Amino acid sequence: MPAITLTTLQSLKQKGEKITMLTCYDATFAHACNEAGVEVLLVGDSLGMVLQGHDSTLPVTTAEMAYHTACVKRGNTDALILADLPFMANATLEQTMMNSAMLMQAGAHMVKVEGQLWLAESIRLLAERGVPVCAHMGLTPQAVNILGGYKVQGRNENQARQMRADAISLEQAGASMLLLECVPSELAAEITQAVKIPVIGIGAGADTDGQVLVLHDMLGLSITGRVPKFVKNFMHDQDNIQSALKAYVSEVKAATFPGIEHGFSA
Ligand code: KIV
Repeated sequence: MPAITLTTLQSLKQKGEKITMLTCYDATFAHACNEAGVEVLLVGDSLGMVLQGHDSTLPVTTAEMAYHTACVKRGNTDALILADLPFMANATLEQTMMNSAMLMQAGAHMVKVEGQLWLAESIRLLAERGVPVCAHMGLTPQAVNILGGYKVQGRNENQARQMRADAISLEQAGASMLLLECVPSELAAEITQAVKIPVIGIGAGADTDGQVLVLHDMLGLSITGRVPKFVKNFMHDQDNIQSALKAYVSEVKAATFPGIEHGFSA
């Protein structure tokens, strides 16, 4: 077991101490993130874009996710490892169970699934079988073709009401964590208050229980040159990667990141 467990994250929420998460895809960065005190390493399917150079996360396979999860595990000592089920890996309940097993056997301590209320049954089955689940809501990049682009979600009152209700239902189904991506700050704050499980935000304002960024984004590395509004380049004031990782942890813990300028309004 790593030093950071689900129980640790729950107690950080209860104490009002912010949770730090970064994406991580290899052993060297896992070690560097551990040294900096990052609590959760997300082996995100964003690796399809930042490592593989695809223009979306859709081409990523479960075998690739398992490979990178195993790499991260080898460099990790203390952090909780969260791994993404990639596009269509949870198309059926049977696939969800088999693919989650692959990620857990590769070294994950929790899996992340993108979606809304329809995830409830698979979350319930996974939790019953000992697999903690993080439900990724709001902007779900695997659904980019339905959403019509990488857009803020929950801006109108109907969408916001639905997202609040779904978050509560997914907690009741057995989710251990929620991740909100590109959601108006006020809505994210309401959802964070409404559930007992930790809520991590990216482009969701300062009032979630913790923050996550894509590692390459916060180190100022980009293939396209397009940097989302919610990203801060932590290399700007630092002269090495280790200090930038530490600055991220300190700023999230001190709630100085994200600032108002990194969030979205309804
Ligand atoms: O895949 C990923 O890196 C993610 C983050 C953007 C939260 O899901």
